Amino acid sequence: MKTREITNGVNWLGAIDWDRRLFDSLIPLPDGTSYNAYLIEGSEKTALIDTVDPPMTDTLMGQLEDVLRIDYVISNHAEADHSGAIPAVLAKYPDAKLLCSKPAKAILIESLAISEDRMRVVEDGERLSLGDKNLQFIYTPWVHWPETMVTYLEENAILFSCDFFGSHIAGSDLYATDEGRVYEAAKRYFAEIMLPFRAQIRKNLEKLSTYDISMIAPSHGPIYQRPKFIVDAYDKWASDRVKNLVVVPYVSMHGSTRKMVEYLASSLMERGVAVQQFDLTTTDIGKLAMALVDAATIVIGTPTVLGGPHPTAAYAALLANALRAKAKFLSVVGSYGWGGKSVETLAGMIPKLKVEVLNPVLCKGAPNEETRRALDALSAEIEKRHAGEIVSNQSRVPA
Ligand code: FEO
Repeated sequence: MKTREITNGVNWLGAIDWDRRLFDSLIPLPDGTSYNAYLIEGSEKTALIDTVDPPMTDTLMGQLEDVLRIDYVISNHAEADHSGAIPAVLAKYPDAKLLCSKPAKAILIESLAISEDRMRVVEDGERLSLGDKNLQFIYTPWVHWPETMVTYLEENAILFSCDFFGSHIAGSDLYATDEGRVYEAAKRYFAEIMLPFRAQIRKNLEKLSTYDISMIAPSHGPIYQRPKFIVDAYDKWASDRVKNLVVVPYVSMHGSTRKMVEYLASSLMERGVAVQQFDLTTTDIGKLAMALVDAATIVIGTPTVLGGPHPTAAYAALLANALRAKAKFLSVVGSYGWGGKSVETLAGMIPKLKVEVLNPVLCKGAPNEETRRALDALSAEIEKRHAGEIVSNQSRVPA
């Protein structure tokens, strides 16, 4: 893979990981991903921004074969998919300094065993001259770790944003030409990486709004020549606004819980409430995570098994809690044989969610007429709560 010129003195380097199918051993990557690095050659100094995932080190080093000098290696983010090849780059360029944020220094030393004398901490807002090009470092904590920062190239108004605004796409397009495809991949990315840190994301968006940005070059996925596209999407995703949508992750052992879920979904749809239903035994967890960016309500469908919720349903509750889903309401539906504590157990698994728990609907054995009446009542309650919630946040956006 050869380097690709973005503009005079600014080149894309990195690796396209066509075959990667899982990130953080958690989120499926149906379209692979990329690890982007950028070489900035000024009239006096040269800087490399970010590197690649460790297994892709040889690809990056091959791209650097004819680069005689690097003065600065800039680590926007210490996670291995961007910092993994830093030791190899520092070994090739013995005079290069590694520049990073204050909180990144210890992480890089601990994870990559980099000698402290090869490093220099840069401050928030600090500028670095490369001669005819000038960089500025902007601290943007929690996009995705506490140490993250972005780097701004003043002369070209390019923002090198690392994870911020990234998308998991392996593709030959250097730029985000197919915005529909990129939107979907960037939202999947946001759901896992950014959703838990929405308040910080909003602060960072506000901070960056004072910069004139003509291009955003993230370290995953294509480059944005129309930054407004992704900034507007982030404005929406990072807000606390929710849609008139119920997400229903469920698991069923003998079909009773599935019948309840399907009845509830149908009842909600009749009332004009959108539904996304996910069978947890087969679903793409990334799709579920994306729905958690929008949904006003989560209804977990679970049978009672061994006295509690099905472990797969518990996983969905833990995932929603870890991602700090935006939902305002939560309920549980499901079938049981002789008793148990499914609802109490699930409710104890979501301490980070700011949800009101609506009356659960449990039935003994197969659902009957009484169960269906209870599901209709839950559906009516959700419709009413959504109307209040969505009017109050003025975001009646079609789901
Ligand atoms: Fe792409 Fe947080 O690493």
